[in-house]
Amino acid sequence: MILLTGGNGQLGTELRKLLDEKGWDYISTDADVLDITDAEKTMEYITDLKPELIYHCAAYTAVDKAEDEGKELDEKINVEGTRSVAKAAKAAGSKLVYISTDYVFDGTRKDGMYQVDDTTNPQSEYGRTKLLGEQAVQEVMEDYYIIRTSWVFGIYGHNFVYTMQRLAETHKQLTVVNDQYGRPTWTRTLAEFMTFVIENGAPFGVYHLSNENSCSWFEFAKEILKDTDVEVLPVTSEEYPQKAKRPQYSVMDLSKAKELGFAIPTWQEALEHFLKLEK
Ligand SMILES: NC(=O)c1ccc[n+]([C@@H]2O[C@H](COP(=O)([O-])OP(=O)(O)OC[C@H]3O[C@@H](n4cnc5c(N)ncnc54)[C@H](OP(=O)(O)O)[C@@H]3O)[C@@H](O)[C@H]2O)c1
Repeated sequence: MILLTGGNGQLGTELRKLLDEKGWDYISTDADVLDITDAEKTMEYITDLKPELIYHCAAYTAVDKAEDEGKELDEKINVEGTRSVAKAAKAAGSKLVYISTDYVFDGTRKDGMYQVDDTTNPQSEYGRTKLLGEQAVQEVMEDYYIIRTSWVFGIYGHNFVYTMQRLAETHKQLTVVNDQYGRPTWTRTLAEFMTFVIENGAPFGVYHLSNENSCSWFEFAKEILKDTDVEVLPVTSEEYPQKAKRPQYSVMDLSKAKELGFAIPTWQEALEHFLKLEK
């Protein structure tokens, strides 16, 4: 039996679809059934269920809100909640898959991609709490996969692709940041990796998983809107201020995942598949 936290989120929903395809037995929960901020109930629920594996997809993901009005909740969910899930996983003898983010890095690396063991230095509250979540998992247990991902898009959530498409309906011109670089990630690719590590008994530890190739948000937007007549114009981060500071360069090295034999599509291929899908 597998347990999902945050099973109705963007990634959780994609993962459920894949688990259904594979015929894996799972229970999917969200805050109404398993509120991970309730430490006692989380321990009780998980130790009663004794899942072999927990896919911990629940998170506070409002990156800008986390800087002020969401700060407390961000801490409660991403740090304390993750610690509770990890402690319960340890007590129940479950493996844990925790999803983290490229925002644990400061984005100033200029001499190549971020390696899994590179120094972390989050610049935002969200990045800080996701990193503390990683550390909580590592302190509490051994049988974990921490998978850092970035720029996630999928058919089951709010994301950059949908934002661009929505804006394109009412704008002839869009300005998009051209000085932040990263790797877009299709939820399907990420969900496949989350099952791949289990199926293949991959060594526990920290992995990076995004789609291949990197780009700026501007380049990503151009590709999303390439079949429209909307003009996409580049701007700098200074011209488009946001509450939370984003890493300027957060391209993560994927070789640890690839060395397992996992084939990673490019973000352009992933986007093309995604755009053909219907909910
Ligand atoms: N989206 C990205 O670009 C991105 C990038 C890097 C890493 N990640 C990581 O990827 C993972 C999945 O993200 P996502 O895009 O699927 O986010 P999401 O759509 O916001 O899903 C998060 C889920 O967690 C649930 N949740 C929130 N508080 C909870 C609580 N107290 N107890 C139980 N469940 C709770 C949410 O439920 P409600 O909706 O009911 O609150 C939601 O279903 C997260 O760990 C995130 O940090 C995401």
